[in-house]
Amino acid sequence: MHTPAPAATPHDPLRRAVVTGAAGFIGSHLCQTLLGLGVSVVGVDRRDPDQHQGAAVNLAAIRHEPDFIFVTGDLRTCAIEPLLPDADAVFHLAGIPGVHPSWGADFDDYVASNISATQRLMHAATRLRVPRLVVASSSSVYGATDGNPSAETDHPRPASPYAVTKLAEEQLCLAHAARPDCDTTVVALRYFTVYGPRQREDMFIQRLLTAAVTGQKVSIYGDGNQRRDFTYIDDAVSATIAAATTCLPSSIINVGGGTNASLNDILHHAQEVTGQTIRVHIASPRSGDVPATCANPSVARRLLGWNPNTDLHAGIGAQAEWLLTRRGASTIAV
Ligand code: NAD
Ligand code: UGA
Repeated sequence: MHTPAPAATPHDPLRRAVVTGAAGFIGSHLCQTLLGLGVSVVGVDRRDPDQHQGAAVNLAAIRHEPDFIFVTGDLRTCAIEPLLPDADAVFHLAGIPGVHPSWGADFDDYVASNISATQRLMHAATRLRVPRLVVASSSSVYGATDGNPSAETDHPRPASPYAVTKLAEEQLCLAHAARPDCDTTVVALRYFTVYGPRQREDMFIQRLLTAAVTGQKVSIYGDGNQRRDFTYIDDAVSATIAAATTCLPSSIINVGGGTNASLNDILHHAQEVTGQTIRVHIASPRSGDVPATCANPSVARRLLGWNPNTDLHAGIGAQAEWLLTRRGASTIAV
């Protein structure tokens, strides 16, 4: 049995990190950036890149890096403690994302992967005295707001089963961290709609750009006036690393720039960067789809010194370029 090591302080430079959800959109970018900074990374994900094409695509750039160990494991059931020795930080990004499917038959997986698996991870991380755990929470915990930017102190009103599980997940991590004998500090990051290369295929910008390349129609649920505080992946990753390397007590921090854009605005940008007219199908609004998100970013600025620096047009251009390269297409002018 492993004997827990003395706790390091979270503001020591990272030497070794564990990333859960490493084969996912945000997790794979995070692993890549950490490796570029000279950090040894253990990535864990239940999607095996030998079996799952999306995971293989996400991990293609790093899978054979000498300082990267990828472990296929499901956090609901796998042995977690062997992944953690000597970790300076755990980045917990594994989970079932997506608002709409959480109303359906997959709900049990949301609960098991977002809550029960997190309980298992927290138990292991606190027992091994991992100094810092950064957990991926979500802007969705705020629910339908009054239109003002959401501050971390606002009363959460999750509007979907997914959002309820994300609120439970972050609060569960913070509850562990608040125990008197706990040496692990937790930073819960409430990410606001992250986009960029390798964005999940169910997400709006990825679907729009795919429609631009294929000529197929994209559905817009509602009138397209919903607004999101879209956050470029590199900015999300820099906030995530700062959350592990900054000396802080346990905290909740918004990761969003404080401005938002409507889906119709995004359609306009996507048409401009691709030079294509995108065919749109107007569909019924979906339950749990809030009218607007917008972060109050002042805590991220104050505690992490974080300022996003990718504007929407450039970010959508980078995502389009990636999609084009991946498909080997040359039909759109980016
Ligand atoms: P993603 O689906 O691309 O990545 C999540 C990864 O977690 C997947 O590779 C999946 O296989 C893995 N996973 C799920 N359940 C697991 C389990 N039980 N054991 C091991 N691995 C498991 O999603 P993403 O967009 O990269 O999101 C990452 C995290 O950030 C999620 O927790 C999500 O809720 C949160 N988040 C994402 C956004 C966004 O805009 N993408 C915004 C807010 C919060
Ligand atoms: C995104 C992620 O998908 C969630 O995992 C995450 O938790 C959340 O951000 C967050 O910020 O916390 P969402 O903002 O709904 O959720 O992002 P998209 O899935 O890209 O959807 C954005 C908007 O486009 C929504 O109004 C959605 O209904 C709409 N949409 C999406 C369409 O109109 N058509 C589509 O094909 C897809």
